[in-house]
Amino acid sequence: MTSRIEKLVDQMTLEEQVSLLSGEDFWSLPAISRLGIGKLRVTDGPNGARGGGSLIGGVKSAAFPVGIALGATWNVGLLEEIGVALAEEVKSKGAHVSLAPTVNLHRTVSNGRNFECYSEDPILTAKLAVGYIGGLQSQRVSATIKHFVGNESEIERTTISSEIDERALRELYLVPFEHAVKDAGTWGIMSSYNRLNGTYTSENQWLLDQVLRNEWRYDGIVMSDWFGSHATAPTVNAGLDLEMPGPARDRGEKLVAAVEAGEVSRDTVRIRVLNILRLMERTGALDDRSAFEEKAEDRAEHRALIRRAGAEGAVLLKNADDILPLVAQGTIAVIGPNARTAQIMGGGSAQLNPHYRVSPWDGLAAALGVERLRYAEGALNNRFEPAVTGSMAVDYFNNATLTGEPVFSERLNGGEVMWFYPPGGKVDLTGFSARLGATFTPEHSGAHNVGVYAAGYARVLVDGVVIADASAAHWQPGRTYFEEGCDEVVGLVEMTAGRSYEVVVEFVSKPARVLGISALHVGIGRPLGDEAIADAVAVARDAETAIVFVGRNGEWDTEGSDLTSIALPGRQDELIRAVAAANPRTIVVLQTGGPIEMPWLGEVAAVLEAWYPGQEAGNAIADVLTGAAGPGGRLPQTFPIKWADHPAQSQDREVYPGLDGKVRYEEGVFIGYRHYERHGIAPLFPFGFGLGYTSFALDDLEVDASGFEADGAVTVSVTVENTGKRPGSEVVQLYISDPEASVPRPGRELKAFEKVFLGPGEKLRITLPLDARAFAFYRVEAKHWLVEPGTFVVRVAQNAADEGLTAEISRQNRLMLPV
Ligand code: BGC
Repeated sequence: MTSRIEKLVDQMTLEEQVSLLSGEDFWSLPAISRLGIGKLRVTDGPNGARGGGSLIGGVKSAAFPVGIALGATWNVGLLEEIGVALAEEVKSKGAHVSLAPTVNLHRTVSNGRNFECYSEDPILTAKLAVGYIGGLQSQRVSATIKHFVGNESEIERTTISSEIDERALRELYLVPFEHAVKDAGTWGIMSSYNRLNGTYTSENQWLLDQVLRNEWRYDGIVMSDWFGSHATAPTVNAGLDLEMPGPARDRGEKLVAAVEAGEVSRDTVRIRVLNILRLMERTGALDDRSAFEEKAEDRAEHRALIRRAGAEGAVLLKNADDILPLVAQGTIAVIGPNARTAQIMGGGSAQLNPHYRVSPWDGLAAALGVERLRYAEGALNNRFEPAVTGSMAVDYFNNATLTGEPVFSERLNGGEVMWFYPPGGKVDLTGFSARLGATFTPEHSGAHNVGVYAAGYARVLVDGVVIADASAAHWQPGRTYFEEGCDEVVGLVEMTAGRSYEVVVEFVSKPARVLGISALHVGIGRPLGDEAIADAVAVARDAETAIVFVGRNGEWDTEGSDLTSIALPGRQDELIRAVAAANPRTIVVLQTGGPIEMPWLGEVAAVLEAWYPGQEAGNAIADVLTGAAGPGGRLPQTFPIKWADHPAQSQDREVYPGLDGKVRYEEGVFIGYRHYERHGIAPLFPFGFGLGYTSFALDDLEVDASGFEADGAVTVSVTVENTGKRPGSEVVQLYISDPEASVPRPGRELKAFEKVFLGPGEKLRITLPLDARAFAFYRVEAKHWLVEPGTFVVRVAQNAADEGLTAEISRQNRLMLPV
């Protein structure tokens, strides 16, 4: 019987078919009203649904914890709940498809998008992604798992070739996608920007056709990352269904011509269109006649879920003398750059305009009463000068010289602008200039930094004098605006408190590279000196307990820019040491999107890593500090003592950050904890590690290997007991090793896990089933998975460096598994 979508595709002209294979605009596909086909809309992304428009401003949305915070929860059921809630968010923005989750692995500790990805481990990532996708799609909202594949860094991200051998691909980087297809039935996949072993993933026939469709039997769509498709026939033929965003660049008329020239067959076009129509049918977009509307729905149940998830992802790394949870009744010094500024998310396409942001100060004030709190900022951790606030008058010119009558004038709010759409419909974004003017009245007298960075040429004048110059003569490509912008250029100016200064920015657009965005950031800030640390020390000395809120923010942990160090930015290390010397009850709350070095670890009483937990940040952190919630997180990524210990740190630039257009994944299957274990390098904190407010013991390991010889299946059972005095959660982690393998294999690989919640004294027997793949490695030449004869070690443990409980099982024969 011919299905509805087959009938539809066969009623279309070639032009109509082709029209569905590109976006119409940034976030949607064209409708075909003649055939009653509705409009499919997509929205970013992993930690909330931003809706259309640009990355700044826009309709408000709920901000959920970022990927690494979700990774730290190790709670598949929670991710499913979050998926359901996010589906409601996506619908509130009139969309059908979420551009999430991000499942690239933590190959390095410096990836700008480390925060967006769950883990360094493929199985943890895969199982969490399956939960998340299941939640989304249960509400008929499509997931778009991304970025397929090998997008583990932001350096030269739109052109670099990730050189990854097939064994590492199959055993690590493809695994989350494979589970998403086979176990969650994902409806969408986004190809990555990078090339894979020389070929763009958006035109990689091996990846999109052989592996994804032939081996895994995928029937959803593959869309390109934004501006990440670079050809007509090669992308369509390789398996890329949708070129995004629109309007069409390499498709449209070019694709019609390619079909007419015989470079793409009509059958191939038909298959691609059927994939799109299937997605529209699955999500309801096919029949969606509702008027497009974006709503800000600030729901109480989402607030509660975000708060709970934030606490579940917080990882307690140190807790000397059980200083936490806070039971003391005295005053608390609340110190640090992240104390009063809520760091809720990372930067780039995952960012959104949150309903609100709760800072740690606000969270603690609500929990403990503001009268117990004392504050000192202590140090700064911003990467860029803070954007100027208030109204800016803008005049636009359709020339590069800021001359003549403006074609349009408007007022904008604040010193950050991204031009996605032509202002007033009159400005030619392919070649324009703009003059922006604001008044700045400093609160303090003294030296101020004036900074500017732009995707385009820009310079800043204060009272008519050029202070920061990134105009054409000085502009250098840097790590801002998705690699389209320059690094920040900063100039110094003396200012007097209370006086008004006229700040003018002259902007000239620049020929587009890949994304074609024009954007600008102008900021003014005041450097903090020694006295800021001295003030913090004084506040800490007088308080019973000192909590230092330090870390990074979404300027550092951001798409488009890798980190150049994993030390805390600015003078934060110094601040922590000075506060700890003044008050032995010093607790450090970290907020970062990945590992940092902690040279002061031995000097402080406690350390809590809270990541970027979304709009409820301060409440979730306060819940953990006060014991209203347990710290439920376990590290989804190893924290090294120093950056140099990490596998991707090498003298060889080709290994990282890349050389001559290539980044070579030399470590193969030995990433993350697999590397530390292999080389006997002690990490600062191992993968899977995290303390709670109670203790747990594992006992009675039992392995049923009766089916192991026949089909490779094994069942592992263990008893978990809460041996402490408070309720809490533990993550039971099951690692496998194959010490007698014929190829080098990791000494430990996570193959299953379960998070359990137990009251004091409670016990639970849990069962973890394993299939043959848990014991197999991939043989590239033979093109199959192999379980070798011999002995395997089954280990249940509380983290990757824990000896835990072990049992040995063995088999006589080889077991080959097809791809
Ligand atoms: C990102 C994607 C994102 C897309 C649309 C790209 O820069 O890599 O993850 O979904 O933009 O915003």
